[in-house]
Amino acid sequence: MIVDDFRSDTVTRPDEGMRAAMAAAEVGDAVYDDCPTTKRLESMTAERLGKESALFFPTGTQANLAGLMAHCGRGEEYLVGQMAHTYRLEGGGAAVLGSIQPQPLPNEADGTIALDAIANAIKPNDFHFAMTRLLALENTFNGQVLPDSYLEAATGLARARGLSTHLDGARLMNAAAASNRDAAWIAGQFDTVSLCLSKGLGAPVGSILVGPKDFIEKARRIRKMLGGGMRQTGVIAAAAIYALEHNVTRLSEDHRRAAKLAEVLARFPELGTGPSRTNMVFMSPKTLDTAAFAAFLRERGIAVSGRYGTLRWVTHLDVDDDAVARVAEACERFFDGKQAPAAMKAQA
Ligand SMILES: Cc1ncc(COP(=O)(O)O)c(C=O)c1O
Repeated sequence: MIVDDFRSDTVTRPDEGMRAAMAAAEVGDAVYDDCPTTKRLESMTAERLGKESALFFPTGTQANLAGLMAHCGRGEEYLVGQMAHTYRLEGGGAAVLGSIQPQPLPNEADGTIALDAIANAIKPNDFHFAMTRLLALENTFNGQVLPDSYLEAATGLARARGLSTHLDGARLMNAAAASNRDAAWIAGQFDTVSLCLSKGLGAPVGSILVGPKDFIEKARRIRKMLGGGMRQTGVIAAAAIYALEHNVTRLSEDHRRAAKLAEVLARFPELGTGPSRTNMVFMSPKTLDTAAFAAFLRERGIAVSGRYGTLRWVTHLDVDDDAVARVAEACERFFDGKQAPAAMKAQA
């Protein structure tokens, strides 16, 4: 049984308060725009992020996809980081379902895309090329907060060249907490933003897309087409409202705990220690068999994401200081000289 789950901040379970809010939710048919709780969630999120309008989606993937499709028509293009979630981890939906041509660009080590790479990738208005319509950024990016000055410069460049801008802000609230910025300031740099409620904020399901009113109405039509027109969503919207009211200010606790975890893990150089970034710690061990290490921890009730040779630890609502202490203890056992050699790969 997993006791301490560090794989992702998506694994949180609704607590009693959230479940009570869900049970008490007033509901109606949200496709008819008749669900008071969903409407309240949408209007409070739009207000909080300084946008005209908002729309509730089942997932971040669908909120991003509807956003991309509302920005770009068939055969048009969006500029995106090579390692960005919308390009790399959403099943190619923009191309497959939106007929949008992605123009992936290298992500720098800090998660940004170089400004000259953006400028050079914008196609001339010539019938040989797809029309470049949109720049999409992600913040936080693998836990990293994009610098304020970069957000201003990149979105300013896009605007000056006639492009729209979208932020995959799945963890926007983490970025705001870590940079001491109002989330509305970050959202204000972009035309549209998606925000995920089921990651660090702890709701069981849901994402929100915010932007201008006419844009959100376009996205509503696309959401229906994508199968995201849900009915009595008040039950899950109530969880999302609870998350926004109770779980935003506590995100800095997750960031503090990730920093502590990074400090604890740094005692084991075989792990190829990396620094914490908001609520995440990434490590790329050189000689360690990460699968064997993850399996060893798993036997002790600790889950960590160990795919493709990288270890990713994520802190969230459901891991506390004792969980970090249990990780330290398990690592000590693993590296005590007995288990470690068996799990070390022969060096190339
Ligand atoms: C940065 C980012 N964007 C978007 C998503 C998609 O969210 P969902 O899993 O709700 O589709 C994720 C999910 O992990 C994410 O990390």
